[in-house]
Amino acid sequence: MTEIPEHLLKRSRERKAAGGDASSSEAAASTPATTAAAPVAKVVAETPAKAAVSKPDPAYIKAAKTRGRIPSWAMATLALMPIFLFMYVRGLQPQKAEASGPVAIGIANYGACASCHGADGAGGAGRVLKGGEVLKTFPHIEDMLNWVYNGTEAFEAAGVASYGDPNREGGAHYPRSYNGSAMPAQGAKNGGAMTEAQILGLVCHIRYDISGADAAGEWAAEYEKWCAPTSAIFAGLEGGTMTFDSPELKIGTAPRLGTTAGAEIMAAG
Ligand code: HEC
Repeated sequence: MTEIPEHLLKRSRERKAAGGDASSSEAAASTPATTAAAPVAKVVAETPAKAAVSKPDPAYIKAAKTRGRIPSWAMATLALMPIFLFMYVRGLQPQKAEASGPVAIGIANYGACASCHGADGAGGAGRVLKGGEVLKTFPHIEDMLNWVYNGTEAFEAAGVASYGDPNREGGAHYPRSYNGSAMPAQGAKNGGAMTEAQILGLVCHIRYDISGADAAGEWAAEYEKWCAPTSAIFAGLEGGTMTFDSPELKIGTAPRLGTTAGAEIMAAG
């Protein structure tokens, strides 16, 4: 039902009472327009107050209000941030010990050996180095250093019957016993190109990386003394205060027989 304001009804009654036909129909015609406007005004007046109280949130606002502040998948990433930061800062620092340690030097120079012994030490023109083979041939690192320094021809020339452990499992290795080929000398006295520090690095890399000696277990004492980045012997060879002929190192630059596992290492003079 359309509500007609009281003052209009009153005016209409007054005009009817005055008796004018035209004025009566004029009042009737004007009524709908006026009455239609009134509810609109009422709604407009009410709107601001109601909107503030009960206007529903759009879906995207609702979603923002109800979801967790940080999604759980992002929490995992955020939890790792301190570790990433730590690794990043560490990466910025110079890698003193590792980069200059014997094993790293060995890795850097192993290309000179890989053509005959294989990138992983699986063998080829040269003997197999991996799978503990060199540890069986050379239970003492000193004997391996002496062999790599000298090579096959120096052993033959000196008339030394075998290299490494003479009681080696599977029989002693003697010069040219593999495929008749010679192992080239690496040390300077026999025309080799490697420094003594580099030879130690190669031997460390072969023993601990390629042949699988356990640096934290059975071979820990040897590793600490010869192959750790902190090795005083490696530092001495690099700095020139020690050589393979230093008596305390028991390596020697002349070909000599190797020592059996368990026996005391003996350097021939
Ligand atoms: C031209 C091929 C050739 C190259 C290059 C070569 N070797 Fe050899 N290597 C041999 C041969 C052949 C033997 C076996 C020697 C023999 O029977 O007289 C051998 C034997 C060895 C052995 C003894 C293994 C055992 O258990 O008897 C070691 C250790 C070794 N080589 C280390 C090296 C290192 C370290 C290098 C790199 C500096 C190197 N070799 C480069 C051919 C090579």
